[in-house]
Amino acid sequence: MTQPRAVVAGYAIVSMDDRINDASGNMPEALRNEGDWRRFQAELDRAQLVVLGRLGHEAHSNPRERRRVVVSSSAMSLEQRDGTWWWNPAGLAWGAVAAALLPSGGRVAVPGGRGVFDLFLSIGFDEFHLTRATGARLGAGHFVFSACAGGASAESLLTSAGLAPSPVELIDAAAGVTSTVWRRTSGALTEK
Ligand SMILES: NC(=O)c1ccc[n+]([C@@H]2O[C@H](COP(=O)([O-])OP(=O)(O)OC[C@H]3O[C@@H](n4cnc5c(N)ncnc54)[C@H](OP(=O)(O)O)[C@@H]3O)[C@@H](O)[C@H]2O)c1
Repeated sequence: MTQPRAVVAGYAIVSMDDRINDASGNMPEALRNEGDWRRFQAELDRAQLVVLGRLGHEAHSNPRERRRVVVSSSAMSLEQRDGTWWWNPAGLAWGAVAAALLPSGGRVAVPGGRGVFDLFLSIGFDEFHLTRATGARLGAGHFVFSACAGGASAESLLTSAGLAPSPVELIDAAAGVTSTVWRRTSGALTEK
């Protein structure tokens, strides 16, 4: 019987030059937007699993006790520490993680950062919710995907990864913040 599939959705708010943070390694005010935050929180609420990088995990407490998987090279493969799952992709494939933690399938929210976005760009996103702060150009900081450093836009990388955009939605006209949901067009993925 085929394993029910986990649907993987990425979430990022990026500047016009595809950055997710600034030169200091922090999220600047220009990338903070109340409307985007509310939508993001609602998306996390409807996910059965949240997969994020270690720094993001350490920076953001988990008051709603969402089920987290922390990506870290410090994990052996998949292990539990204090009620949180820790995963090292070098030790266990995503398909095995999904089968172990979501045996009946479900939604997986991926809020980054860059290393985790890179990881799932190669595994395969089913959706990517790309929010743009159209007034922000940071000039430094992490790109949303490492390959943006070579000049590729986030949109071109999502297209190459088999996703297509829905119409752009204006979520905050005063702040110039838009959102585009990219969805897989090339059929169901097999778990990697
Ligand atoms: N604008 C946005 O939408 C957005 C989204 C996310 C984050 N951010 C911002 O970006 C910054 C944090 O992001 P970040 O990229 O620096 O950190 P991060 O992704 O939260 O954490 C990085 C850590 O995650 C682990 N990791 C990531 N990919 C891995 C892989 N493939 N294999 C093994 N371990 C892996 C490593 O942990 P170990 O060192 O333990 O191996 C790495 O040091 C913050 O400023 C945050 O606010 C912005």
